[in-house]
Amino acid sequence: MTQAVLIDCDPGYDDAAALILAAGSPALELVGVTTVAGNQTLEKVTGNARRILKLLGSRAPVAAGARSPLLSDAPRVCPEIHGESGLDGVELPEEGVPLDPRPAARFIAETILEREPGSVTLIPTGPLTNIAAAVLSEPRIVSRVREVVLMGGAVHAGNVGPFSEFNIANDPEAADIVFRAGWPVVMVGLDLTRQARADEAVRRRARSIPTRAGRLLAEVLEAFTGTYRRARGYDAPPLHDPCAVARVIAPETVRARPVPIAVECAGRWTRGMTVCDFRREPPADVRTQAALELDAPAFWDLLMDAAARLP
Ligand code: RIB
Ligand code: CA
Repeated sequence: MTQAVLIDCDPGYDDAAALILAAGSPALELVGVTTVAGNQTLEKVTGNARRILKLLGSRAPVAAGARSPLLSDAPRVCPEIHGESGLDGVELPEEGVPLDPRPAARFIAETILEREPGSVTLIPTGPLTNIAAAVLSEPRIVSRVREVVLMGGAVHAGNVGPFSEFNIANDPEAADIVFRAGWPVVMVGLDLTRQARADEAVRRRARSIPTRAGRLLAEVLEAFTGTYRRARGYDAPPLHDPCAVARVIAPETVRARPVPIAVECAGRWTRGMTVCDFRREPPADVRTQAALELDAPAFWDLLMDAAARLP
C-alpha cells in the first residue's frame, strides 16, 4: 500500500534529492509537486522542478506557487549555496514536464479534497508560503491531510541566524499558520538533518548507481559539496530535504518526539525561531513533533535504492 505524498519545494540541490527519493521509493505515490520561491526565484525553482521530474520520468503534475513570502515582496534567495540557477553544475533536460495552470495553493487544496480523507501527506521542503495560503483559502484541508512532515526549523542552532533556519525564517508568518493549523506536524529540522552528511563515501556510492537518477544524485551531491566547501568550509554537506521524505517512508529512520512548537514572528534577534518547549511532558493533545535522531545508514540506503530504481 503506497502513501500519497505532495512535495512543496524550492529546488535547490537537497530538494532535488528529496524528489529522487520520493519518485523512486516503492512506498510512496508522488501525487504532485508544487514550487515556492526560496533557494532561488519562483521561475528558477519551478523550471528546475519540471526538468528534474522529466529526467526522472515522473508523471507527477507540477504547479507553481508563491514568488514571495506572505508579508514581504522578495524571498531571501540562496545563490551562495545553490548557485544562480538554483542547481548550478547539474545537467538537466532542456524541457521540463508541463506546468499545471493552477496556482500551488489551489492545486494543493484540490489534490487533498479529491482524495480519501487522511490519505495525503504534505512534505514541504521550502518556505511554507504555499501551505499557509492553501490553509487560508481552503480550511477544510486541515482535517483531511494525513500529516505535514516538513523540512525546516531547529530545536537548537539555526543556519541563517543563531536561532532561525532558512525555510522558516523566509516566511515566519506562513510557518506560524502551518504549525498552529491543528493538523499533525513533524518538524524535521537542522538537529536531524545535520546528521545526514553527504561525505565522500556517500558521494562515491551515488557515482556507482548506473541510472540517470543516480547520475543526477551524484552531480547534485558533488555540486552541493563544492558550494558548502566554499561558503561554509564543510566537506560533507547536510542533505536536509530528503530527511523529511525518509520520515514518511520509514519513521523509524527519522525518530521524533512530541513537543509543543511555536514560531517566533516578532523577536528582534529570534524572528523565525521554532521554539520547542521541552520543560515538561507534552500535553496529551500536542499536534507537533520534533525529529531528533537519524539512522544515517538506513537513510542513505533508502536514497541510493530509490535512485537505482529510477530510469
Ligand atoms: O535550511 C535548509 C533548507 O533551506 C533546505 O530546505 C534548503 O533546500 C533550503 O530550502
Ligand atoms: Ca529546500
